Amino acid sequence: MPDRDGKIRYGVVGGGSISQGAFMPGIGQTDNSVMTALVTGDPVKADRLAGEYGLKSYRYEDYATLLASGEIDAVYVATPNFRHLEFVIPALEAGIHVLLEKPMATNTRDCQAMIEAAKASGAKLMIAYRLHCEPGTLEMIERVQAGDFGEPRLFTSTFTQTVKPSNHRSEHGFAAGPVTDMGPYPLNMARQLFNAEPIEVSATGVRTPGTKLNTWDTVTVALRFPQERLATFTVSYTLPGSERFQLLGSKGEIEASPCFGYGEGVGIAYRAHIGDDTREHVHPVVDQFAGETAYFSDCILNDVQPEPNGEEGWRDVRVLVAVERSLESGEPQMLDPLPSRPHARRDQVRQFALAKVPEFIDTESPTQ
Ligand SMILES: NC(=O)c1ccc[n+]([C@@H]2O[C@H](COP(=O)([O-])OP(=O)(O)OC[C@H]3O[C@@H](n4cnc5c(N)ncnc54)[C@H](OP(=O)(O)O)[C@@H]3O)[C@@H](O)[C@H]2O)c1
Repeated sequence: MPDRDGKIRYGVVGGGSISQGAFMPGIGQTDNSVMTALVTGDPVKADRLAGEYGLKSYRYEDYATLLASGEIDAVYVATPNFRHLEFVIPALEAGIHVLLEKPMATNTRDCQAMIEAAKASGAKLMIAYRLHCEPGTLEMIERVQAGDFGEPRLFTSTFTQTVKPSNHRSEHGFAAGPVTDMGPYPLNMARQLFNAEPIEVSATGVRTPGTKLNTWDTVTVALRFPQERLATFTVSYTLPGSERFQLLGSKGEIEASPCFGYGEGVGIAYRAHIGDDTREHVHPVVDQFAGETAYFSDCILNDVQPEPNGEEGWRDVRVLVAVERSLESGEPQMLDPLPSRPHARRDQVRQFALAKVPEFIDTESPTQ
C-alpha cells in the first residue's frame, strides 16, 4: 500500500548514527521510497530530528500504535543488535515489511523466529546488506563467478575501527563487539565470492589492556569452505580505520580497498591481477543506503522476495555465533554443510548520488 505517489512509506526505528548519518538522508535520493515516521526514545530527537524531516514521532512504548496506524508500509530497524527482534517480530506480524540492519540478530533462534514471522504474514524481510546493491561489489562477485580469476581459493581481509568507550558497543559483550558488528562484511563477501558456505570455524582474539570493552576487541577468524578453500579475516574496535580484502584464485587475484565502507569519498575500488595484466577499477561514490532502500521498495512494489532475505542473514549469524563458541572453547567449530544460495546479482544495483548528511541531533558517531 504505497502512498499517493506510489512510494513505499517507511518508519525509522532508532535515530542513532546510522539512521541520521546514512538512511534518513539517503531515502530522499530514491524515487520510490519516503519516510513518514520516527520511533525514538529521545524527546530531543522526537522533536528536532522528526521535525527536520517532517515525520510523525512515536515512543518505543507506542510502537504498536504506529504499526496499526496505516501511516507506514515498512520499517527500517537500526537499534543496537540486541534490540532487533523486539521491533522486527511485531512489524512482520502486523504485515509491515522490514528492512533490518545487520547483523540480523545476536543468535540463530531470533533469526528463525523472524523468518517464520515473515513466512506467516507474507510481509517481506530484507537484511540491510547495502553492498548487495552497490555496483563495484556486484562487478567483483560476477567476475569471480564467471571464472575471470580461475577457481577462487583464498580470501583474506582486515576491517578495523576505533570505537568510543561511551558507545553502547562497549558494554554489550560479544553481541555488540567487532565480530558481530564488522564481521558480517568480510564473512558475507567470502561466502558470496566462493559461492559456498563454510564448514569449519576457528577464532582467536585478544583483549587489549586499557580498553574498556567487555569482550575481545580484536579477533581473527579462520573459515574452511568445501573444496579446500580458506578465508581469514581480522576485525577490531581498537585500531585505526582500515578496510581491505584479497581474493586469490587459481588464475589471478583481486585486491579491494575500500571494499566495506560507505559515504563521502568511499567509492568501492579494486585492483585485478590476471597473468601479467593489472588493472585498477574505481567505482563512483554512490549512496549505498538509497540503493538498498530503493531495491527493497522495488521488491515490495513488485511482490518479489529480496535476495538478502532472512535466510541470508541467518547464514551469517550461524557463523558469527560459532566464532564466539570457538573463542570461548579454544576449539574449532564444525558447521552443518549447506548448499550455496543465489548470490547478489547485477540487476540489484540501484545507483544514486550521495545525499548531504545534516549535523547529528543528540547522537554521536560511534567511532573516534
Ligand atoms: N549498514 C551499515 O553500514 C551499518 C553501520 C553502522 C551500524 N549498523 C547497524 O545499525 C544498527 C545501529 O547502529 P548505530 O551505529 O546507528 O548505533 P547507535 O548510533 O548507537 O544508534 C542506535 C540507536 O538505537 C536506539 N536505541 C534503542 N535502545 C537503545 C539502547 N538500549 N542503547 C542504545 N541505543 C538504543 C537509540 O536511538 P534513539 O535515541 O532514537 O532511541 C540509538 O541512538 C546496528 O545493528 C548496527 O550493526 C549498520
